[in-house]
Amino acid sequence: MANIIDLRSDTVTKPSEAMKERMFTAELGDDVFQEDPTVNELQQLAADLFGMEAALFCSSGTQTNQIAIGVHCNPGDELICSNMAHIYVYEGGGIALNSGVSVRLVPGDRGRFTADDVLNNINNKHDIHLPLTRLVCIEDTMNKGGGAIWDIRDISKISNACKQNGLAFHCDGARLFNALIESGVSAKEYGSYFDSISICLSKGLGAPVGSLLLGSKAFIERARRRRKSLGGGMRQAGMLAAAGIYALQVERLRLSEDHQRAKEIEQLLLHLKHAQEVMPVETNIFIWKPKGGKSLPLVEILKANGILCFPFGNEWIRFVFHRDITNEQFQDLKKRLEAITF
Ligand SMILES: Cc1ncc(COP(=O)(O)O)c(C=O)c1O
Repeated sequence: MANIIDLRSDTVTKPSEAMKERMFTAELGDDVFQEDPTVNELQQLAADLFGMEAALFCSSGTQTNQIAIGVHCNPGDELICSNMAHIYVYEGGGIALNSGVSVRLVPGDRGRFTADDVLNNINNKHDIHLPLTRLVCIEDTMNKGGGAIWDIRDISKISNACKQNGLAFHCDGARLFNALIESGVSAKEYGSYFDSISICLSKGLGAPVGSLLLGSKAFIERARRRRKSLGGGMRQAGMLAAAGIYALQVERLRLSEDHQRAKEIEQLLLHLKHAQEVMPVETNIFIWKPKGGKSLPLVEILKANGILCFPFGNEWIRFVFHRDITNEQFQDLKKRLEAITF
């Protein structure tokens, strides 16, 4: 089918002409020598946005998360995260592979847990049988939780619990700007609660490559060393950083359009009774269980109708809305969903 509507992920977004223009005209240098002016500008821009001391441009969100874990923890330590967390489920066992760290999984509400959950999962540091708890990681928005947003009051309480117990606090903010634009919380307030934050430029923000790790100057110095040892030191990376600057200055501001579309489709599928159950839409991700409770056959039917999406297990389907779905495609999507029988 000629007109494919790709709802598999917001990672499928391609750079716009305006973004490419910035990339082609970027000033370049060797970033391993910290001499790429465009990379330096992007890092400063991101750090300032969140009121943090420093930032490091990396190749991917997996890399920024894995670097953060390795810098915060020593081998044999333990981190606390959701059982749905990307760092645990989807990063190729990187926590064990890269950092030798063990994981304490917390169930929570669509991947969101509380300060009490944290306090209940900190090991007694005087008991030599137990790994030392060193780090708490949250993911905002929560991908497997259907783009769920963390309540800033819970974040603040977890941050306090971490401080009182000598734990570091990291946020996998691959889609953090979706959360911030929806909640109205400022990036500066958000940044004040964390020791480190990872943000992605290559998802809903449309950049081709790149993520940023934010933290204190000392933390970022250690992160830079670790990035190098992972083979992540890039040279004239300013071409990519220029796309990142455009993403932060321009694309960040349009994300609520994707959220409105996700809500509209949620309502449509409930109305058509195609959806038996939904994870209520909060941002650009819509996870729903089709009538009959079987995802795999429906994913194939949708594909035959030119709608691409991923199954989430055997029962759920994920739609992700993003900037590369045109208005025309969106109207078409509604018509195709209305016409489908299964
Ligand atoms: C919540 C979350 N964290 C981290 C990542 C990793 O990003 P990357 O694909 O750039 O490694 C993703 C990727 O989709 C993600 O959804």
